[in-house]
Amino acid sequence: MTKNKNNRAIWGTRIKSNMSQSLLKFGNSLNVDKRLYKEDIAGSIAHVEMLFKQKIISFKIKNKIIYGLSKIEKEISNKKFEFNQNYEDIHINIEKRLFQIIGEEAGYIHTGRSRNDQVITDFKIWIRSSIKEINILINKIIHSTLNLASKNIDTIMPGFTHLKNAQPVSFAHYLLAYVEMFERDKKKFNHALNNLDENPLGVAALTGTSFNIDRNYTSKKLGFKKPTNNSIDTVSDRDFVLDFLYNASVCSMHISRIAEELIIWNSDGFKLINLSDKIVTGSSIMPQKKNPDLLEYLRGKTGSAYGNLFSMLTILKGLPLSYFKDLQDDKKLIFDTNDTLVNCLKIFNEILKNCTPNKKIMLELANTGYTTATDLADYLVKNHSLSFRKAYEITASIINFAEKKKRKLGELSMEELRKFEPKLTNDVLKVFDLKNSVNSKKSYGGTSFDNIKKMIIKYRKQI
Ligand code: ARG
Repeated sequence: MTKNKNNRAIWGTRIKSNMSQSLLKFGNSLNVDKRLYKEDIAGSIAHVEMLFKQKIISFKIKNKIIYGLSKIEKEISNKKFEFNQNYEDIHINIEKRLFQIIGEEAGYIHTGRSRNDQVITDFKIWIRSSIKEINILINKIIHSTLNLASKNIDTIMPGFTHLKNAQPVSFAHYLLAYVEMFERDKKKFNHALNNLDENPLGVAALTGTSFNIDRNYTSKKLGFKKPTNNSIDTVSDRDFVLDFLYNASVCSMHISRIAEELIIWNSDGFKLINLSDKIVTGSSIMPQKKNPDLLEYLRGKTGSAYGNLFSMLTILKGLPLSYFKDLQDDKKLIFDTNDTLVNCLKIFNEILKNCTPNKKIMLELANTGYTTATDLADYLVKNHSLSFRKAYEITASIINFAEKKKRKLGELSMEELRKFEPKLTNDVLKVFDLKNSVNSKKSYGGTSFDNIKKMIIKYRKQI
């Protein structure tokens, strides 16, 4: 190949006629995969260093290639690089530019590798840093949640089941439930990080190569634990893409559940939380409105994460081994999911910092709907040697009575209570106190204040 052949397709000697612009455009992924340029250059540098170490290329050629690649990296970073849409992707664009910069010796760069292994190497390195960024953002959310929780250990709210008042809980305990969800997300992403820790570089198109390459060397250079085991599986495998899309979908689903909850709590029917003016929007016609648009958008964004996961699952379904062009869209899906999730995590963190509980209304609501009924039943079991079922029945009758009288449990007289259980003493009244109820749930993982304090310390150590 001579220099003036540089602007024709790599396969120009074999394939004689040019593709029309519209066909070229259809197969082109440059605008999507140009994001991989840094990873591509890092992969190529590791590759040529290995080729030199293995005496496959000379010292001079290796240095020239690395010089050219470093120059290209600067050009792209400084927006000086002229991308050529006639070349399918970032890999060919970089290779072609290398020819322009260093001449014919650029032709040695592709010794013993294919775009098939090159593209997954770049992609895995990219996903690896993306996961690290996501975990940092999740940690920031956990940090903000813990800040809000530590200010609200004794803020009492109703815990709900079926969205009906169930039992009083600490608002902090509720917030720590969110922390658990995000901790699981981090764990899942870290697991994915571990799973993708095998270097694809050097499996070439699908069979490996007859050159005496050292895949352990490139693994080390590129920060992978080890080389992949099977060349055919390597170029076919996109499980690591699915892992990322699934983990992002679950994280996004967590955000949407929390967003939905905050929307409900902020609604005029509940008024349990206030959102500061920094995070609400108005209406074009109703002057009084302060709407939780951002939370709604966070709730809705989960749809695109699921969509991308299902697109990738569908692309892979029934796809034989090994590389097929079908796979090219993997990058578009990951980038889209990543960008959306990163954005949502940042927005959600802002929302958390601008959200405060309406303590008075929380307490009032916690004190309606007989939320201490279970405490009364438990009290009867502990103090009057009743089975739980018997205690449950007596409590239910007391509630029927109170409801008829339109009174809270604490508003019943001892005389009235003794009609249902004659041995009851004044001591029983303490179970109707909400704080007492919350603080009595001392079982591991329960809502008692001590548990919450210990958990906050534990989570703080984890981030
Ligand atoms: N642009 C391609 C992709 O991302 C690179 C791999 C091309 N390999 C091939 N055999 N056509 O999937």
